Amino acid sequence: MSANVDEQRARYEAAGQGHVFRFWEQLSQGQRDTLLSQLKDIDPEEVGRSYRAMQRGQGESEAPEDVKPVPEDAFGSMLRSPASLLSQWEKQGLEQIAEGRMAVLLLAGGQGTRLGMSCPKGMVSVGLPSGKSLFQLQAERIRALQRLAGTAKPVPWYIVTSAHTHVPTEAFFREHAWFGLDPDSVRFFQQGQLPALTVSGKIILQDKGLIAMAPNGNGGVYRALSSSGALADMQARGVRHVHTYCVDNVLVRVGDPAFLGFCIHKNADCGAEVVEKVDPTEPVGVVCRVGDHYRVLEYSEISSELASRRDTHGRLEFSAASICNHYFSVDFLQEVVRQYEPQMLYHVAHKKVGYVDDEGRPVAPDKPNGIKMEKFIFDVFPFSKNFAVFEVLREDAFSPLKNADKPGQVDCPSTARKAVYILHAHWVEKAGGHVSSGSGGVVCEISPLVSYAGEALQERVKGKTFPSPFVLD
Ligand code: UTP
Repeated sequence: MSANVDEQRARYEAAGQGHVFRFWEQLSQGQRDTLLSQLKDIDPEEVGRSYRAMQRGQGESEAPEDVKPVPEDAFGSMLRSPASLLSQWEKQGLEQIAEGRMAVLLLAGGQGTRLGMSCPKGMVSVGLPSGKSLFQLQAERIRALQRLAGTAKPVPWYIVTSAHTHVPTEAFFREHAWFGLDPDSVRFFQQGQLPALTVSGKIILQDKGLIAMAPNGNGGVYRALSSSGALADMQARGVRHVHTYCVDNVLVRVGDPAFLGFCIHKNADCGAEVVEKVDPTEPVGVVCRVGDHYRVLEYSEISSELASRRDTHGRLEFSAASICNHYFSVDFLQEVVRQYEPQMLYHVAHKKVGYVDDEGRPVAPDKPNGIKMEKFIFDVFPFSKNFAVFEVLREDAFSPLKNADKPGQVDCPSTARKAVYILHAHWVEKAGGHVSSGSGGVVCEISPLVSYAGEALQERVKGKTFPSPFVLD
């Protein structure tokens, strides 16, 4: 054991991180074992290199030049493309699904710190009358897709978790019998994690004998696809297309066949589903071109002059707001893991990280005191050789759960719930029915097992009025 300790101490001291042994003499044997096993899994030199590269990259990428909006010919749009093309793309997408060529990839490794629940976000219910969790809604949308595609072949569902979410996520699926899906088609795999750092790059001790670790961002999925064998598994199953999405969007159209068909029609290797940004000050990332490449530029990376510019129709020129809904061909993912992922720099995320003070007492900071190094899923866009952008209506497809409820809050359980009620009541209206308002306004929830996107409702609702709460299951 002592040779082991000496070896680790030497590695960490050489990397300027010797302070992680600061409380070694005070640790019990069990604590020492825990710390040593953590230390062995970290490469302190690489942490330092990544930190320094991130610092340099930050300086360079602040104000990219030659920024242009997405050109019209790269766009498909649920609002503006002709209905005949939209149904053609949807049909093409469903054909691929029927042939088992599409998989869905769920990003579920985040810590959900803003929401502040102790369980993984996918296990959370936003308070719909059915009480369904986000995981259940997504599983049922996958079952609905299989029904729409008329296939008995399951759509493979790959779920990336992290050290924080893996065990409870798997247990939740088991407890709920995989929500009616074939367990063989649901595969969990873990992304990596990195130590949290002080702003000057020092590893943070969360306790005397414990390093503060954090998942390495949703771009950590690429390394994990390769190291876990998930990408090889996709190839073995004959999957050619992957739809990737975030766990926290209550309206997500999992495996959206129109988006899939559009990307295939465009022969794209990579694509983004976007919603229209209408307010120049909305703090969202937008898909745009920088030089010859596509990128998502954060709100802070675009000047207010550019962000406010409008075209002749009055639309913002930079209107393609990213909703973390992406298409990848499996061939492209292979190139990414082989070639491009190592070139992607980490981004800095300023977060509250619990730490121990000089006396070894745990401190819970009330404002961000540390940084986490994260790669982003969209960091691969610049490597795409043929990129496609597909616009969907926000009210049809996007309402994220980021924050806990409080008055005036956005992106929280009550806004997510309301988005479902408005959309589903709209489906009922379109099918010739009506949901009347109750004391809590209009409450309408239609199970994905009944309808994926508003189809198949006429027979059940036409000519009828339903009082709120109306639940169709
Ligand atoms: P967010 O960036 O919104 O992070 O994740 P979060 O963890 O949900 O919430 P905060 O920022 O801590 O409050 C967007 C999506 O990326 C996934 C999340 O699970 C979510 O689906 N994600 C995030 C990962 O899969 N891994 C990560 O390391 C980070």
